Amino acid sequence: MGSMPPPLPLLCSSALVLLLLLLGRPQGANGRAAPPAGQPVQQPAPAVNGSVASAGLPVAAAPPPLGRLDQVVIVVERHQHLRRELIAAIVVSSVAGVMIVLAALYSLFLWRRSRRALVDSNDTQSIDTARIAFVPMLNSFNSYKTSKKSAAVMMDYTSLEAATGKFSEGSVLGVGGFGCVYKANFDGGFAAAVKRLGSETQNCDKEFENELDLLGRIRHPNIVSLVGFCIHEENRFIIYELMENGSLDSQLHGPSHGSALTWHVRMKIALDTARGLEYLHEHCNPPIIHRDLKSSNILLDSDFNAKISDFGLAVTSGNQSKGNIKLSGTMGYVAPEYLLDGKLTEKSDVYAFGVVLLELLLGRKPVEKMAQSQCQSIVTWAMPQLTDRSKLPNIVDPMIRNTMDPKHLYQVAAVAVLCVQPEPSYRPLITDVLHSLVPLVPMELGGTLRISPESPFAIQKHSPC
Ligand SMILES: Nc1ncnc2c1ncn2[C@@H]1O[C@H](COP(=O)(O)OP(=O)(O)OP(=O)(O)O)[C@@H](O)[C@H]1O
Ligand SMILES: [Mg+2]
Repeated sequence: MGSMPPPLPLLCSSALVLLLLLLGRPQGANGRAAPPAGQPVQQPAPAVNGSVASAGLPVAAAPPPLGRLDQVVIVVERHQHLRRELIAAIVVSSVAGVMIVLAALYSLFLWRRSRRALVDSNDTQSIDTARIAFVPMLNSFNSYKTSKKSAAVMMDYTSLEAATGKFSEGSVLGVGGFGCVYKANFDGGFAAAVKRLGSETQNCDKEFENELDLLGRIRHPNIVSLVGFCIHEENRFIIYELMENGSLDSQLHGPSHGSALTWHVRMKIALDTARGLEYLHEHCNPPIIHRDLKSSNILLDSDFNAKISDFGLAVTSGNQSKGNIKLSGTMGYVAPEYLLDGKLTEKSDVYAFGVVLLELLLGRKPVEKMAQSQCQSIVTWAMPQLTDRSKLPNIVDPMIRNTMDPKHLYQVAAVAVLCVQPEPSYRPLITDVLHSLVPLVPMELGGTLRISPESPFAIQKHSPC
C-alpha cells in the first residue's frame, strides 16, 4: 500500500498564515511598522543637506552636523527600517521556496500514484483481453458472475445450436461420463468445444458449478481455458477452448494407438501436465487437488501442448476432509489411501500422474481386461518389470521402443515408480517430478535437453493426426 499523501494543503496554509503574519503587520504610511498603540507617530523629516543619499541609502557613516540630531534619528530609523524589510524579504522568499518544493513533491507523489493506478488497470485489462480473445462474438453474450472471483461468460443457446449444427453427430468430438463434447464453429471463424451435461446425470449441477467456479479463476498455459457456459431448460453447457488433437487417452488408446506421439512428444506431454499440476498444487491459494487426473482429462492442442481439463471434482486443499466430499475418481487412477481410507491430499494427484506416465511409457490402459472378466491394473502389472533394467525395454510401447536414450528411459521409469508408491509420503511432490522431467525434454519442446541432429535420438517429426 502507498503511504499517506503529505498534508500539503495543511503545510501550505500554515506557511501562508506565517507569510500573512509577517506581511500583514500594521504599517505606517511610509511602510514602516506602526508603533505600539499609545506612542506618538514619528513623522518623517524631509531629507536635508544630502544627509540621506538620493538613492535612498543611509549615509550613517557620515557624521551628522552638530545641532541636527533630529536628522540623525531619521537616518538611524531609516536604516533599521531597511534592515527589517530585508529580513522580511528573506523570510518571505524562504517560505515561498519551501512552498514550491512541497508543491513539487506533492505533484510527484500524485503523478506516481496515477501511474501505478494505470499499470494496475492495464494488468486487469490484459486478463480481460485474454478472455475476450477466446470470445470474439461476446456482443451476443452476457457476463455472469459465478463467485466473487470467477467471471464466466454466459452464452446464448441459439448461437450454440447454430455453431454445432444443432448438436449434430458429425460435430461430436468425444463422449464422456456426463455426455457429449461437440465442436462448435461460431460466426467469425472462432471454434470451441462445447460439453453438454445431461440433466439425468447425478451431481451434474454440482460439478457444473464447481467447474465454472474453479476453472473460471485459473489461467495457465497447461490448463484448458474456460470460454463460457449456457443453461437451457434442463441442460448445462460448458464451452472450452478447442483442443485440436483431442485427449491423450484418444491418442494413446484410440485408432492411431499412439503413433502420433514420439518419445520426445510424450516427455513433453508429461512435462506440460506436471507444470499444470504444479500450478494447482503450489501456486493456487488455497491449493487445488484435481481429483480426476487421467489421460482423457489431458487435452492436446494442434502443437501437442498438453492442458489439464475437467475440474468438476476438484477441491481446494483444506476442504477435502469435510464430510461433503464424496469418494470420486476413475478406476486405475485412484490412489490406494484415498480408495481405502478416503485420505485425499495433493499426493493423490501425484499417484494419478504416475499412472499417466506409465500409460505414456507402456502404451497400455490403466486397467486392462483379462480373461474371465478379470481386470489388471497397470501398476501391479508393470511394477516388477519397471525396476529391472533388462526387462524394462521389452515392456515399452512398441510404437516408441528403442527410439530413446536408455538412460532417459530408466529415469522416467524411476519417476513413475516413485509416483505410484502405495505410501503417499514416499511419493515425490509434483515440483520434484517436474524438475526431474525438464532435462529429458528437448529445448524445442520446452525442456532443457540439447540434441545434436546427428544423434540417433534426434527429434523425429511426428505424423500429423
Ligand atoms: N476442449 C476440448 N477440445 C477437444 N476435445 C475435447 C475437449 N474436451 C473434451 N474433448 C473430447 O471429448 C471427450 C470426452 O470428454 P469428457 O471430459 O466429457 O469425458 P472424459 O474425460 O473422456 O470422461 P469422464 O466423463 O469420465 O471424465 C474427451 O475424451 C476428448 O476426446
Ligand atoms: Mg474429461
